[in-house]
Amino acid sequence: MQTVHTLSDLRAALRQHPDWVLVPTMGNLHAGHLGLIARARQENVPVVASIFVNRLQFGPNEDFDRYPRTLPRDAALLAEAGCDLLFAPDEAEMYPQPQTFRVLPDPALAGILDGAARPGHFEGVCTVVMKLFQMVRPRHAVFGKKDYQQLLIVGRMVEQFALPIDIIGLDTVRAEDGLALSSRNGYLTSEERAQAPQLQAALRALAMDARSATAPEQILKLERQAMSRLDQLGWAPDYLTLRRRVDLQPPTAQDLHRGTPCVALGAARLGRTRLIDNLEC
Ligand code: PAJ
Repeated sequence: MQTVHTLSDLRAALRQHPDWVLVPTMGNLHAGHLGLIARARQENVPVVASIFVNRLQFGPNEDFDRYPRTLPRDAALLAEAGCDLLFAPDEAEMYPQPQTFRVLPDPALAGILDGAARPGHFEGVCTVVMKLFQMVRPRHAVFGKKDYQQLLIVGRMVEQFALPIDIIGLDTVRAEDGLALSSRNGYLTSEERAQAPQLQAALRALAMDARSATAPEQILKLERQAMSRLDQLGWAPDYLTLRRRVDLQPPTAQDLHRGTPCVALGAARLGRTRLIDNLEC
């Protein structure tokens, strides 16, 4: 695997092949990220991964400064996973000028759920992903369903800007106890780590209970119950909610009647750590 840190070296390396598949990350890689690399390899074109901790997508009181930066270990894991090229720019390379031109995602999609809890987050994500897409010009790009709203927003961005990139979504890779793998799991104390699968369990219970619901009010009641159960277990939930997969809006009575594909999504703080997860249902 070749590693490059500058845009000019990236472009030179990319010229070796007409088509690439991109896996964007912020590093501190785990088996979930490596799952994306494995999925990318199935496209039978060379795989380029990026590692960049993007300041634009972090709020002022979020974990940008303490986000783990583990480049040598990440590079070794990527090489072992069969990645062909690693692009790891520093901030001056990614943002040589302050990034005053931004990609503003639709608030109907980016102002709800995680976008409501983290104002400006998806604008930061879209801006850096658009920039990475322009730098790499990949044929395909792979994202995890772990960040369900992010995957949907990136897909919509690609559609609306007519980018010639095929977006591939990969199912969430989990630990044996059901916890979705995440770089932020490393912040958990051992007691919190033992408790962490409760978020996935709460989503599972919500999805199950929602099956027999016929009216949106029943869903709202189940959501409130699910939040208060997590609250009693010592979590501070941002949201636990059932939404339509297509636009993350609450299902109508007709949706419930027809069995429109839905997803249960949750975000909750455990101690100092904010975890997210979801379950298609
Ligand atoms: P990061 O959190 O590093 O995640 C990089 C990619 O890995 C995302 O597509 C994410 O959904 C996926 N991922 C994380 N955990 C996963 C798991 N357990 N199973 C499957 N996929 C998983 O998401 C970002 O970085 C950034 O927002 C980024 C897109 C790189 C833009 O800065």
